[in-house]
Amino acid sequence: MTQLNASYLQLQGSYLFADIAKRVRAYKAAHPGQEVISLGIGDVSQPLVPAVVEALQKAAAEMSDVKTFRGYGPEQGYDFLREAIATHDYQARNLDISADEIFVSDGAKSDVANFQELFAQQSVVALQDPVYPVYLDTNVMAGRSGKFSGGRFEKIIYLPCTQENNFCAPLPKTHADIIYLCSPNNPTGAALNKAQLQTWVDYAREQKSIILFDSAYEAYITDSDLPHSIYEIPGAREVAVEFRSFSKTAGFTGTRCAYTVVPKSVNVCDPQGGSHALHALWLRRQTTKFNGVPYIVQRGAEAVYSPQGQAQIKQVIALYQQNAQVILRALQAVGLQAFGGVNAPYIWLKTPSKISSWEFFDLLLNQAQVVGTPGVGFGQCGEGYFRLTAFNTPQLTAQAAQRLGALKVL
Ligand code: MLT
Repeated sequence: MTQLNASYLQLQGSYLFADIAKRVRAYKAAHPGQEVISLGIGDVSQPLVPAVVEALQKAAAEMSDVKTFRGYGPEQGYDFLREAIATHDYQARNLDISADEIFVSDGAKSDVANFQELFAQQSVVALQDPVYPVYLDTNVMAGRSGKFSGGRFEKIIYLPCTQENNFCAPLPKTHADIIYLCSPNNPTGAALNKAQLQTWVDYAREQKSIILFDSAYEAYITDSDLPHSIYEIPGAREVAVEFRSFSKTAGFTGTRCAYTVVPKSVNVCDPQGGSHALHALWLRRQTTKFNGVPYIVQRGAEAVYSPQGQAQIKQVIALYQQNAQVILRALQAVGLQAFGGVNAPYIWLKTPSKISSWEFFDLLLNQAQVVGTPGVGFGQCGEGYFRLTAFNTPQLTAQAAQRLGALKVL
């Protein structure tokens, strides 16, 4: 019989959001009349903005005409979108990133999951705890985690993000080859400032490590001093790869478009110590395993950068930011400690009366019919915390906030 990849047996439970969806389906089936409000998975509620829809329709019409029809596109994305990204997201901010360092993809989740393939199996991985589960699970699948015991994988370096350190990860005490950082952070909502991010870039340069920087939520930053990109930090072009997405910025969770920045100056070495550009390796990987994002979708993403597109998406982001304030105020009004929600669409609350994250999940679902995400699902340091998202409609968010205020345990 064919043998499986035994690393899959190391995975703990099922994918967090699939697990939650299953529990919510079961609850709804048992309580058919009740309206359940989701502040759980970070899925957007607002439709695509008109500038994007117009561009999608125009591109769809092009596909219906033999003269403008397109088949396979470049695996790394069409130049029109790569240019728009480099110009607006980087060069306009005086950041030295060129269009050919941008790789367009169908999602930051898949890119951040796939990127670890470029590194040796014995590479040591460091990640924040709590953490977006994809970073950890994909390294477990790749056989990099070692055994699971006492709630931890033995070969992973966990960087505790706690209330005491303002949810800002400490540097690893031992050498790490690959460091995953997410800022603004999913799930805690904390955002690294320039000085904090500089310590990471300095560490990576000194240790010859690579930082995989997830900035999928940069559009939610309200504090003007905070960095939106790791390339705002001197030296980052030598050590960092950045992942960004149109999902939470422009409502593309279902439409699927994202991009990864791989500067040509980031190098990794072979077993003999020879140096290789990560850019060339990722290009090789993408051209072999990926056929690109649909032309229609890339035209839609390009429209995000038009003046109308920018104005329209800013309104939608402001609506979600307003939701975050509504949730924060409701939690504060009932005396719950809450974090995040200011530079991120996530609110990280401390569960009341020291109850566990999953107990709070059940309590919220049963008493208030509100779904959130148990902090422990993101890692051991998330126990006793709970994540709410700001992505529902303003109406349902307000309703959920009202229900939170009526919880009995508080
Ligand atoms: C989340 O809820 O953490 C995100 O929606 C997950 C994702 O973007 O894949």
